[in-house]
Amino acid sequence: MDQNLNLTFENFSAGTANSTYILVGEELALGAQAQKIWDKTGQDLAALASAADFKAKAGSFFNVFAPAGIESDVVVLCGVGELSSESALKDFAAAGGSVVNRIRAAKGENAEVVFDLDVSEEQVASFASGIRLGHYRFDKYKTKPKKDDNQLAAELNLALSMADPKSIAVADADRDSIAQGTLAARNLVNEPANILGTEEFAQAAIDLEKVGLEVEVLEEAQMEKLGMGALLAVGYGSRRPSKLAIMKWNGGKKGDDPIAFVGKGVVFDSGGLSIKPAGGMEDMKGDMGGAAAVTGLMKTLGLRKAKVNAVGVIGLVENMLDGNAMRPSDIITSMSGQTIEVLNTDAEGRLVLADALWYTKETFKPKFMVNLATLTGANLVALGNEHAGLFSNDDELAQNITAAGLTTGERVWRMPMGPEYDTLINSKFADMKNIGGRWAGAITAAQFLKRFVGEVPWAHIDLSTAMGIPDTPTCKSWGTGFGVALLDQFIRDNYEQS
Ligand code: BES
Ligand code: MN
Ligand code: ZN
Repeated sequence: MDQNLNLTFENFSAGTANSTYILVGEELALGAQAQKIWDKTGQDLAALASAADFKAKAGSFFNVFAPAGIESDVVVLCGVGELSSESALKDFAAAGGSVVNRIRAAKGENAEVVFDLDVSEEQVASFASGIRLGHYRFDKYKTKPKKDDNQLAAELNLALSMADPKSIAVADADRDSIAQGTLAARNLVNEPANILGTEEFAQAAIDLEKVGLEVEVLEEAQMEKLGMGALLAVGYGSRRPSKLAIMKWNGGKKGDDPIAFVGKGVVFDSGGLSIKPAGGMEDMKGDMGGAAAVTGLMKTLGLRKAKVNAVGVIGLVENMLDGNAMRPSDIITSMSGQTIEVLNTDAEGRLVLADALWYTKETFKPKFMVNLATLTGANLVALGNEHAGLFSNDDELAQNITAAGLTTGERVWRMPMGPEYDTLINSKFADMKNIGGRWAGAITAAQFLKRFVGEVPWAHIDLSTAMGIPDTPTCKSWGTGFGVALLDQFIRDNYEQS
């Protein structure tokens, strides 16, 4: 997964790599080791920086080629701004991400990043995880490296050198578990639907048995028996069989009710008979971003052996059109017994979640349920790629998720719900219809889901942030993996106190 990146933790080596990256703080502050290296060059840092207008702002860089006194071809001054032991972990990750992207841009092959800031093990480890996240590209289908596209021609050997490299092993394993979960989610979102269908996605869930999860996959016949008429209807027009994958991590007290995460896994959303316009339909390979985040989260929990009982449930379907496809006007019966009039086959995610949420509630009696879904274009219109929409029937749950997002930098914004919105999905012929009117589309979708959660504390995250062109230091990929770090943080903050 760490494609072409060989990241190692080393002792300081005084500038013997091809390229040496040193961190420079505000006022051109250097750490002890960086100062040692710089002194060898005999150059006046203040004069050089002033001539080059280098102010050491976070994410700024300056190359000093063929420096005297050391073996490296280049010493790169990496501005880190005010980064200090007071800084948040996400700021360290961003710094690591911008450094690795600078190395990529320079086509570096052997780089030493001198990390001599006096900070905690978690902070160093976050810098390292920022390197792994920032380095990620989904380029496995490019048969030739492209020179102008930050595509590495060769493997990048990156030595992160520090005073005591062994001391960060535990913190690194912990931070890396989040990065690996996030990268797993990105890979799933980026993969096109001809490669990643429902079978392949279910296999990705089953693969988590390797990190200690218990995984079960329900097939169509089993779901029919359970009465999951809503989820199954979405897959009628597809050649791919619908599936429900259940991932369990039991790291908490025996018998303690689990916390539950439910994901929309539409491997491709053509819209069905209410077919989508051609422009932009390709983005709907990412309509399983919710399921990808749940899968990535479960991987993280397993990797770091989280002290919690958690269950991840993902509804895997493909929304296509053929002679068996569901039609506008069809009335289907969900597992809950409630009937749904399908007025638009493109409002399919809520049908999948209706049964996945009900099943989760009935089967696991969870403390709460959080579902993640690329549910509506309306949410994207409202919030863009900057915030995911948050909808909840529980203020404390909503606040805790919001707070976790501020910690990790994956921001959510709570949207209103209420009975006035709920009546908009009442149907003439059935208990409800699957679309509201023209307005408040993200909210009426949330009201629909709410009808399938009973009294369980519940939150729905409308993941407009799962895909797009984020271009942050730690994410240069279309699929973002949004939600993995957020929910991992939320679990750490609220459900793992011993
Ligand atoms: N998967 C889409 C929503 C979506 C679109 C997410 C673009 C991210 C980017 C969902 O299934 C959908 O098609 N929703 C419809 C609902 C409408 C028919 C009520 C929408 O938002 O247009
Ligand atoms: Mn749709
Ligand atoms: Zn969809």
